Amino acid sequence: MGAEKQSLELISSLNELISALESGYYQEALNQSYDLNVSESEIANYTSWNKSRYTRNCIARNRDFELILLCWEEGQKTAIHSHNQQECWVKVIQGNFAEYLYEYDDVNNRMNPTNEVYVAQNEVTTIEDSNTYHSLENTYKGRSISLHLYMKPIVKCNVYNQATNQLECKYLTYDTFEGEVFIKS
Ligand code: SIN
Repeated sequence: MGAEKQSLELISSLNELISALESGYYQEALNQSYDLNVSESEIANYTSWNKSRYTRNCIARNRDFELILLCWEEGQKTAIHSHNQQECWVKVIQGNFAEYLYEYDDVNNRMNPTNEVYVAQNEVTTIEDSNTYHSLENTYKGRSISLHLYMKPIVKCNVYNQATNQLECKYLTYDTFEGEVFIKS
């Protein structure tokens, strides 16, 4: 019989969050994400910006989770996409977002809007339903930053093409990985 997992102390920094995830405390990381305050200096090494699209910056990853920082110029948004059936939470570090939720009707090949929520600084939003699609938009008058935890990492997902009403498979990539440039843009 394996040793019993010890209970987790309070997570009070980004490094403590990474250690908790690396030790497999996913549920605790989610529970504590609401109260966690991530300072500007903790994320400074992971930010990168692009005027034509939001950037994806991997902070930490293993086979069980992926923790990424997304950096958004004003008005930037994602396509409508799925999460490849992985659980996920998003915490707003700076700025604010609109999240548009959808369900795909595969009989009529249509994306049906189901809800719209606004997520302010320090708030957390989660997606658990495998049939849920969403789009996030930076609605702040300026730059926004969000922290995303995926369990497990998302290598590819379905993206909705609004022109054709079709779902397309898209492979995801990073702009930076653990603070280093990953792809040149
Ligand atoms: C992304 O990971 O690129 C999109 C953000 C999200 O849906 O959580």
